[in-house]
Amino acid sequence: LHIGRVVGNSVMETRFRMNFGEPLQVGEMLVVESGTAGERYLVRVMDIEHGADADEMNWMVTKAGQFLRLDALEGECDLNSVKGQLFCTGVCSPLGCVGKEFRKTKSIPHHFSTVRRTTIDDYEFLKRSLGDIQVGNLRSGDQVLDFPVGISGKAIPHHIGIFATTGMGKSNLMKNLALSCMRLRRYGFLVLDPHGEYYDGGESGKKGLKHAGLNDALVVFSSRKLDGPYNTIHVAASEIQIADLENLYEFTGAQLEFMQSAQYRFGETWLTDINDKTVPEITKALGEGKYHEGTINVVKRRLESLFRFDLISRDPKLSITTHIIDCLHDGKVVLVDTSNMYETEELLISTVLSRAIFEKNKALYADKAQFDKIPPVLIALEEAQRVLTEAKGTVFAQIAREGRKFKTGLCAVSQQPKLIDSEIISQFNTLFILGLADKRDREILRNSAKQDVSQLDNEIQMLMPGEALIASPFTPFAVPVKIHLYEEYLTKAAAEGEAKKTFKKTPVGATFY
Ligand SMILES: Nc1ncnc2c1ncn2[C@@H]1O[C@H](COP(=O)(O)OP(=O)(O)O)[C@@H](O)[C@H]1O
Ligand SMILES: [Mg+2]
Repeated sequence: LHIGRVVGNSVMETRFRMNFGEPLQVGEMLVVESGTAGERYLVRVMDIEHGADADEMNWMVTKAGQFLRLDALEGECDLNSVKGQLFCTGVCSPLGCVGKEFRKTKSIPHHFSTVRRTTIDDYEFLKRSLGDIQVGNLRSGDQVLDFPVGISGKAIPHHIGIFATTGMGKSNLMKNLALSCMRLRRYGFLVLDPHGEYYDGGESGKKGLKHAGLNDALVVFSSRKLDGPYNTIHVAASEIQIADLENLYEFTGAQLEFMQSAQYRFGETWLTDINDKTVPEITKALGEGKYHEGTINVVKRRLESLFRFDLISRDPKLSITTHIIDCLHDGKVVLVDTSNMYETEELLISTVLSRAIFEKNKALYADKAQFDKIPPVLIALEEAQRVLTEAKGTVFAQIAREGRKFKTGLCAVSQQPKLIDSEIISQFNTLFILGLADKRDREILRNSAKQDVSQLDNEIQMLMPGEALIASPFTPFAVPVKIHLYEEYLTKAAAEGEAKKTFKKTPVGATFY
């Protein structure tokens, strides 16, 4: 059954007329059926306009005036008498020609082609390009279709961005990504959690990764007490490099020089040595008069604050990095809860872990047999704008630029993508775009998305929590999706699992490749 007919076309825009009262939404996907050959064009509604059949230009304005005057007199406005003249025009942008194959649109549908709503079968072509890391269902406007959507593991080393204004569903999406990874056991996923929301949900009514009941696939590290099994967080002093400290503090040239010289003189133990030794001892070791007492003291004070907690161990064996890398290479989800740390310490942990993973994978690259065995590893960073504002410097920027080759991907979560360096953001091939209120944030994504999302500005502004567009080079167009609400999805999956207990494995969505 069709809802409208095409009234105007260019290759980039399809307009169609609908009868009065026919519901239509921005973001809805529709099918235009053209000619007798049954060519199908998939289009997405970008805008909706009012129209009326009338000879005078201002007929609608005049009519509205008549109605208002009638309202004032408390008279009856007879809308029925004009309904036949009224219509809406849907303004759509073509996504492509669908059928067995998907083709970009290079032609236009015939005049007066019929327009209808889509059915699941119309999306058959999409299955091939969607992936196994399931996050939600296909969405047309706000209608959720029974069609699972996920991203492919191939997307991991090409980096993933999750961008939305606060409250639009970033954390919920992260939990879904982690849940899928735990089920698949095919990818390593490191979740750095500075807000303490992923282990148990953080607040009442919310659920976390521990509630997934997949304990074999989840390894937890935390610096605060958790209700369940976890490991405490330690990194070895020998794993911390000057560059890591530079991420945390501003150093003057003299201070940097001093640290370099201390590293040269003391070797692996330089950090603990600066902390433990007195200023005269250090001066003596590095050469009298070479470094100002003030310089040494500033560096010492900063290290002191790092050593204050039981975070940095002098014993390299006490470090968690090797354990974490092993778990990731075993296809597990590793959650590192740093929610009770100060920002400096939290960033230090994130930096040291990320560097260790990246360098391990890089080292394995030399041995092809070994390298082929390791799964892609995804490192998720909250508030990613903090460490990705500059194209150079941090290990995160380095991973964004070089990680692809070494099976190491970043998953940047941010409410302010505009603060991320544009060169870095262009390295993020898969973007989850959720509701974004800020115009400049949307602009940045428009410019860096691997698909043309320039026409989706209306839609992105109207997205509700959990509604997203996935732009990636792996799909033919930006795919609209409704992310599962994690809590609801867990309950539903548990109920389904109960019902299908006779099966060996719960069929969880479809696996596409
Ligand atoms: N996929 C979704 N479906 C339904 N509601 C959602 C969805 N994602 C988020 N929400 C709602 O929005 C709230 C905020 O989501 P959250 O993931 O914490 O946002 P953010 O991390 O972006 O601030 C959630 O508590 C939930 O009520
Ligand atoms: Mg959040």
